[in-house]
Amino acid sequence: MEKFIIKGKTALQGSVRISGSKNSAVALLPASVLTDSTVHIENLPDITDVRTMISILEDLGVKIRRRGRNAVELTPGSLSKIAPSYDLVKKMRASYYFMGSLLARFGKAEVPIPGGCDLGPRPIDQHLKGFAALGAKSSIEHGMIKLISEKLVGARIYFDVVSIGATVNLMLAAAAAEGRTVLENVAKEPEIVDLANFLNAMGASIRGAGTDVIRIDGTNKFSGARHTVIPDRIEAGTFMLAAAATRGSVVVDDVIPKHLEAITAKLREVGAIVEVEPETIKVTGVANLKPSDLKTFPYPGFPTDLQPPGMVLLTAAKGLSVVTENVFDGRYNHVDDLKRMGAHIKVEGRTALIEGGNSLSGAPVSAPDLRSGAALIIAAIMAEGVSEICAIEHVDRGYDRFEEKLIKLGASIKRAKVTELDCSTGNTE
Ligand code: EPZ
Repeated sequence: MEKFIIKGKTALQGSVRISGSKNSAVALLPASVLTDSTVHIENLPDITDVRTMISILEDLGVKIRRRGRNAVELTPGSLSKIAPSYDLVKKMRASYYFMGSLLARFGKAEVPIPGGCDLGPRPIDQHLKGFAALGAKSSIEHGMIKLISEKLVGARIYFDVVSIGATVNLMLAAAAAEGRTVLENVAKEPEIVDLANFLNAMGASIRGAGTDVIRIDGTNKFSGARHTVIPDRIEAGTFMLAAAATRGSVVVDDVIPKHLEAITAKLREVGAIVEVEPETIKVTGVANLKPSDLKTFPYPGFPTDLQPPGMVLLTAAKGLSVVTENVFDGRYNHVDDLKRMGAHIKVEGRTALIEGGNSLSGAPVSAPDLRSGAALIIAAIMAEGVSEICAIEHVDRGYDRFEEKLIKLGASIKRAKVTELDCSTGNTE
């Protein structure tokens, strides 16, 4: 295991180039198996989840050529397996996208029941409901989800819950189904639009991505394609919130401001200065941040993945703020450790009350999941004194060269080895 040793208190200053979107990349890579031809994907973030996804593709028999840190060439012509290796798949939840893509290609798929961050229950009932509507039969045997279908036939599917995962999986399966599929009450995130653009470049016929209704006319002819992953709006938002929380001034480069409107609005509401240009956003923190109510919603609402860093920002705003997590049942894994650093937070169900304005102090803490880990890192940069954040592997899953980027912005961060025992008991040298 590894930890970050962070010495606060620092105001982040400078500019940072945002990497490609993790949540787009982990959908684009499995989608490549729909074709036998070669696809080129550029601007991939160099993170653990992408490396795991590429290993799964290799395990399935896809020929891979890495083109530098952030690009890959995939030729699935030699694809032979319908069951990705359990050891690889259990490392990341998004591996369940192989359900939709292998079902589309082979008419069957065997994927272990997904793991993933501990954010509360993460059912896949909407995925299975959609596959059944297209004519696939599913069963769960020995921890594996087995899907089989003689022929996928287009259908009208109304999702009971807005789900990114279910929207992605059904786009993948419906792209190769016979006839038209209409998906309603779908996720509208930019990553859904990015996937639709990639599938259409490969020969699919998908319209309406980014709206509530997606229409897909299935085909069995897919070609190669070249695609550049969109910028990671969650990474960009993490740095924007960190700039305001540390009362620094940070420019995030290579972003799509439209994808960040909810974050820009919230930052302005708490008094930060936000200057928006066509491909960059500059955020400058102020001494007297104002408390605010932060509610998470599916896109274009404030993203749940930025709720943990958003909460850290609100600990710096004098007065009472209220956070309401509307997407997941249990996304407050960062609260206990923030309280160890001196934050005054009270959680009641989906709501967290933050009495902001008290400065934080460094402490030994542990990253419980990806976005809570990022939040604790921001808190450690804001805090007086030294913090040690172990289980940093969680953060490496989704942030490309995170400490390098933060050090360039003036943070004092060192990476070090730590034993499992030290991490769990909080002992530090
Ligand atoms: C995606 O997860 C993201 N992961 C998550 O980002 C993100 O937090 C989440 O969407 C919400 O925005 C990827 O894109 C790889 P959902 P996903 O299906 O698809 C319920 C990160 O940090 N639901 O949109 O698993 C579910 O319980 C990660 O980058 C059902 O009830 O999320 C949740 O309450 C963490 N039945 C809500 O819908 C289903 O069949 C939204 O989940 C599916 C979901």
